[in-house]
Amino acid sequence: MEGDRAPGFPVRTCVAFRFRGVEQAESSRIWSLLRGLAEARDKGDYAALVGLEKILAFNLSGHVLHSIFWNNLSPDGGDRPDGELAAAIDEHFGSFDAFAGQASTATKTVQGSGWGVLAWEPLGGRLIVEQVYDHHGNVGQGSTPILVFDAWEHAYYLQYRNVRPDCVDRLWNLVDWADVTARFTAARAAGPAIPGLR
Ligand SMILES: [Fe+2]
Repeated sequence: MEGDRAPGFPVRTCVAFRFRGVEQAESSRIWSLLRGLAEARDKGDYAALVGLEKILAFNLSGHVLHSIFWNNLSPDGGDRPDGELAAAIDEHFGSFDAFAGQASTATKTVQGSGWGVLAWEPLGGRLIVEQVYDHHGNVGQGSTPILVFDAWEHAYYLQYRNVRPDCVDRLWNLVDWADVTARFTAARAAGPAIPGLR
């Protein structure tokens, strides 16, 4: 859609959010949390450990997912992948349309805030769709996200009000398949990051 490719595209709010420093806030919180954990170790006082660990996972995962998200999108994106990524999608989902239907639905139906994610799963050596809650729930350990759709309200509410599905449908017009393919190729070539998987 032409409007999505105009200056100020895509999901305006998410872009605005980027400039407001969401990623910087996440990374500065990560350092602050690591300092908090070091302090807890020094004191031998782990009363706040559960909270610190949870917030650390939240901010680490949020930073990773937002970093991938910005690179997954391009004003020149859209269409479909080709080559080995297209073949893998056909093999693991049946067809591109079947994959897109599952990924769209996973993104649209996240309860509360979260993400729809296409990930390389090294245990099975295959692509899977994950429906991530917040930034860090419902994640398969060891899987590598290669295409992510932000389903947090801040990603769409200015441009799309409360109609998350419209935003998700239009995101497909912006997917930079070259970036997704590079992530797929690297994840598959790296093999399992966790030794002993079989
Ligand atoms: Fe976001």
